[in-house]
Amino acid sequence: MSVEVRACTGDAIVALIPQLAALRVEIFVDFPYLYDGDLDYEARYLDLYARHEGSVVIVAEEAGEIVGASTGIPFVHEPESMHEPFVKHGWDPNELFYGGESILRATHRGRGVYSRFHAMREAHARSLGATWLTFCAVQRPDDHPERPPGYAPLDDVWRHFGYAPREELNATMRWKDRGDAEESDHPMRFWVKRLAG
Ligand SMILES: CC(C)(COP(=O)(O)OP(=O)(O)OC[C@H]1O[C@@H](n2cnc3c(N)ncnc32)[C@H](O)[C@@H]1OP(=O)(O)O)[C@@H](O)C(=O)NCCC(=O)NCCS
Repeated sequence: MSVEVRACTGDAIVALIPQLAALRVEIFVDFPYLYDGDLDYEARYLDLYARHEGSVVIVAEEAGEIVGASTGIPFVHEPESMHEPFVKHGWDPNELFYGGESILRATHRGRGVYSRFHAMREAHARSLGATWLTFCAVQRPDDHPERPPGYAPLDDVWRHFGYAPREELNATMRWKDRGDAEESDHPMRFWVKRLAG
């Protein structure tokens, strides 16, 4: 069966929030995120995307069921703490579009959907006049006890799509890892791709 991929904005996102929240929790529990998900938090987070002008959720569906999604939002709508490293290094947050997350059910990987996510998110960012795309990725040590045998980091995949990691652009995000009683800080590294100029 074929996977349909479409870009949603505004109210079209609202209708998808429960399914998207559940899929995020299902997928981000795995390494390297190890996220002990909270559906209410996820719903609030996705609601931000629905309400902020310029944001997009690209949805992959098969037989009417959501099997994957990729989110994006003008970087200015992200919290100040995310802008700080950029501003400190001379970037203008107004020039950036932020790729939130991309997720795809394991059964649907390796079929070209990620490539369509990138192309559509990029087209959306260009349509808003963004000069740069960025996203951030959690940094886990190579010897992390939860790292599955044979785990392949996505670094080469992101390079394939034109992104480069920026060692000077780092942030911290808090969430509760699976098996932990409390939230903890997680070091994040930004990756950047130039779109124009
Ligand atoms: C991230 C995710 C959506 C990727 O989807 P996927 O279907 O597994 O992606 P693919 O393996 O098909 O790879 C995508 C592209 O990278 C290329 N690629 C794969 N391995 C590569 C490598 N080692 N080096 C260079 N390119 C590579 C593929 O050829 C493909 O490109 P193409 O379509 O232009 O040919 C999916 O793995 C996922 O949901 N992971 C869990 C959540 C996550 O980590 N999300 C990312 C951060 S938020």
